[in-house]
Amino acid sequence: MFLVTGSSGRIGSSLVAALLARGEAVRGFDARPSGRTAPGYSEVVGQFSDAQAAARAMQGVSSVFHLGAFMSWLAADQAKLFDANVEGTRALVAAANLEKVRRFIFASSGEVYPENLPEYLPVDEDHPLKPASAYGLTKLLGEEIVRWAGRSAGLAFTILRFSHTQEATELLDPDSFFSGPRFFLQPRIRQQEGFGNTAVVELLRRHDDGTPAMVLSRNQNGRPFRMHITDARDMVTGLLLALDTPATVGGTYNLGATDPVDFAGALPMLAEITGYPIRTVDLPGVGVFYETSNARFREVTGFQPAWPFARMVEEAASAWRAKHRS
Ligand SMILES: NC(=O)c1ccc[n+]([C@@H]2O[C@H](COP(=O)([O-])OP(=O)(O)OC[C@H]3O[C@@H](n4cnc5c(N)ncnc54)[C@H](O)[C@@H]3O)[C@@H](O)[C@H]2O)c1
Repeated sequence: MFLVTGSSGRIGSSLVAALLARGEAVRGFDARPSGRTAPGYSEVVGQFSDAQAAARAMQGVSSVFHLGAFMSWLAADQAKLFDANVEGTRALVAAANLEKVRRFIFASSGEVYPENLPEYLPVDEDHPLKPASAYGLTKLLGEEIVRWAGRSAGLAFTILRFSHTQEATELLDPDSFFSGPRFFLQPRIRQQEGFGNTAVVELLRRHDDGTPAMVLSRNQNGRPFRMHITDARDMVTGLLLALDTPATVGGTYNLGATDPVDFAGALPMLAEITGYPIRTVDLPGVGVFYETSNARFREVTGFQPAWPFARMVEEAASAWRAKHRS
């Protein structure tokens, strides 16, 4: 029996489907019910930090994918972040040790480096770990809890530092959590209002004439943003390869798309589909500009991403056209 935490989330729900398709018995564990009913599938709804819920979720489990986490960059959410990602991981690891699980695969994040403030590029697994956000710190503490369980209790763990990940259809969804504010001007303004970044809000508002627009983000020197955007399906492929490759036990790997996305090239592709104008905004600071190496994981597992950005955009375009066909 496999346990997938975060089973109602973006990556967890796809992983559950993939494991069920392989004929495995799967239990989900999430604070939100998934609504999924399928032969071989059961679910525990609860908080990761609730030891009793964690023990119930772990009963009869041989392998764990701990993908559930709380993601927020709001100062007001810090207590919730530590409860979900640190105490929650500790409770799950304790339950996994009692159950003597065979494998424990943990979803960490590139925010442990963090990729937005790289000391060198491409960022590899030996890059210094100096998370800038509270979220990144909770993921690093989660990693340490998992490594400690490896040392102290023999937990056979694999740590995967996930790239930024999307479902393809999110790319052109102005209401989506990540891509809305990343690519659409007005959702970006609302996001920055939420963060209390008044200077950035004012800057962005100067480009807003009240009609929908895309935003091309550049740094203070006019350098367009660049980062990895990985399709959730490729993450599922990587998770299954980690499971199927015993050599990954005890290791820590970057997992994500091979090539980063250059926003100067991406925004015209997206704007052509939406028909919205592009507003180019030079934001204060060094901005986002990184490349992360997945070479170590590819070498050990043979991982080959199948959904590069251009292919994700094709799918996002179909979804956009289906929604906006009048
Ligand atoms: N999506 C990304 O860009 C990205 C990047 C790097 C790392 N990650 C990591 O990958 C994993 C999966 O990401 P995702 O995009 O599928 O996230 P998601 O937000 O779609 O799913 C996370 C799930 O965890 C559940 N959850 C959160 N806190 C919980 C708690 N305290 N108790 C029980 N359930 C709780 C949520 O209900 C949600 O269904 C997470 O560990 C995340 O930190 C994601």
